[in-house]
Amino acid sequence: MKMKSENMTAPHIEEAEIERQRLLCDTIEKELFSRGFGKERRPGYYIQTFGCQQNEADSERMAGIAWMMGYRPVSDPAAAELILINTCAIREHAEKKALSIIGTYKHVKDKNPGVIIGVGGCMVAQKHRADQLKNSYPYVNFSFDPGALHLLPELIYHALTGGKRRFVSSDTYAVAEGLPTHQKQSFKAWLSIMYGCNNFCSYCIVPYVRGRERSRTPEAILEEARRLIDGGARDITLLGQNVNSYGKDIGSMDIAALMRQICALPGDFRLRFMTSHPKDASDALIAAMAEEEKIVPHFHLPVQSGSDTILRRMNRKYTAQEYLRIIDKLKSSVPDVSLTSDIIVGFPGETDADFQETLDMLAAVEYDAIFSFIYSPRKGTPAATMEGQIPREVSSRRFEQLLSLQHDISRARNQRFVGRTIRALCEEVSKTDPDKMTARSDSPRPIHFENNKGVPVGEYCNLEIVSADTFSLYGELK
Ligand code: SAH
Ligand code: SF4
Ligand code: F3S
Repeated sequence: MKMKSENMTAPHIEEAEIERQRLLCDTIEKELFSRGFGKERRPGYYIQTFGCQQNEADSERMAGIAWMMGYRPVSDPAAAELILINTCAIREHAEKKALSIIGTYKHVKDKNPGVIIGVGGCMVAQKHRADQLKNSYPYVNFSFDPGALHLLPELIYHALTGGKRRFVSSDTYAVAEGLPTHQKQSFKAWLSIMYGCNNFCSYCIVPYVRGRERSRTPEAILEEARRLIDGGARDITLLGQNVNSYGKDIGSMDIAALMRQICALPGDFRLRFMTSHPKDASDALIAAMAEEEKIVPHFHLPVQSGSDTILRRMNRKYTAQEYLRIIDKLKSSVPDVSLTSDIIVGFPGETDADFQETLDMLAAVEYDAIFSFIYSPRKGTPAATMEGQIPREVSSRRFEQLLSLQHDISRARNQRFVGRTIRALCEEVSKTDPDKMTARSDSPRPIHFENNKGVPVGEYCNLEIVSADTFSLYGELK
C-alpha cells in the first residue's frame, strides 16, 4: 500500500507537453496572420458555456488559449472563425440544449466553411455522445473531453491545416498546470483546487465524465491565488466537484488549512468555495469559516433528499440526522451563516412520505435558497436502471410544492438583512437601466440599488438594505 506523504502529487501532464501546446499557439498565430489576419484584425472566437462553475472556469482557460493563438472574443457566433461549445451532461435537458445549439452552427459553417467548430465539456466524455457528433454533425471539426482541454492548440492547428476530424478522450485525466486563462471579469475569479469526484452518487454522471479526484498542489494554488489578487481579484471562489475533500488524494493540507493560507495573503478580497459534500464538512472547515474574516459566511451544502431511504439509495453516505447535526454546528459557530442546498425530486422509489421528509428538511434548516432538480436518468449510472422510476406528473407536482415552500422560507429569511448596512461588491450594471446596479455580499441573493454615486463595477460599496423579496435584496448607497 502506498503511504501518504507530503510529497505525493496527483498525476500531472508533463511540462514539456504543455510547452509543446504553447509553441503550437505561436505557430497558429503565424498561420492565421499569413491568411490575412493580424494584430489589428484578429479572427474572432466565440465560446458557449453550459453547466457548472467548473465549466465556466474551463471556458476561461479555453478563452486564454484562444487569445494566445491570436483570436479575439466576439459576441456573435456568425462573426467567429472559431466556435467552442463547452457542454454539460448533468441532466438530459442540458445535453438536449447543447445539441440543439450545435445544430444551429451548421448554418454558420455553410456561410463560412473556414470556421472551426469544436465541442468540449462533460457531454462529449460519453462515448455515445462523441459518436453522435461524429456521425450526425459532420460540420463539427473536433471534440475533446475535460481531461483533454490542454490539447486544444493541437486540435485547432490540425483543423486549421485541413486535417481529419478528431474526437479525443482523455484516459488519464491528469492535472494540467500552466494553461493561460482569460477571466471574464478581473475582480471575480474561479480558482480550481481539485478536479473529479470519487463519490459515485447513484444518479450522477460526474465521476464518469470528470474522472477521479485530483488535487492540485497547495503551492500551485497559492501561486495562482497571489496572481489573481495582484490582478485585481476581489471575489475568489475555490472550485472542485467535491471541494472539501481537497488534499485527501495527495495527503496534503486540507481545505480549511488551504483557505487560511489564502486568507493570509495580503489584499482586499473575499473567499468562497463550492461544492461541498456533507461527509467532508469538517469541524476545521466550520472553524475556518467562523474565524477568517475573508471567508464569506455562506455554506452550500447539498442534501439532495430528506429521506434516509432515498439517501441510502443515492449512495450519499449520511443520514438526515447526521446532516442536521452539521447544520446545527454551522449555525452555532458561524453567526448568521447563509445556507443553500441542491435537492433532487422524483428519485426512483421516492414515495410521498420520502418527499414529505425532504419538505421537513427544508423547514428544519431554513435555507436561504435551494437549487432544485427533477431527477433525470443518466445512461450508465446505477439509478437509471433502478426500479420505481417516478412518472413525470408526480415529479412535477412535487417540484412545484418544493419550490412554493422554499419561496416562503427564502422571503422570510431575506428579511433579516433589512435595516442593516453591509459592504458589498458591485458586480454588474443593469441591462435595462444604466443607473441601476447589482452587488453581492454574504447573502447568496443579489442586492439591487440605484447607483447615484457612480460606483464602478468591481468596487466595494456600503449599502443599507431597505427591502427584500424572495430572490433579491434592495439597497441604498451610504
Ligand atoms: N458535486 C456537487 C454538484 C454536482 S452537480 C455535489 O455533490 O453536490 C449539481 C447538482 O445537480 C447535484 O447536487 C444534484 O442535485 C443535481 N444532479 C446531479 N445529477 C442529477 C440527475 N441525474 N438528475 C437530476 N439532478 C441531478
Ligand atoms: Fe455527483 Fe455525488 Fe460527485 Fe456530487 S458528489 S459530483 S452529486 S457523484
Ligand atoms: Fe455539468 Fe460537468 Fe459541471 S456534467 S454540472 S458541466 S461537472
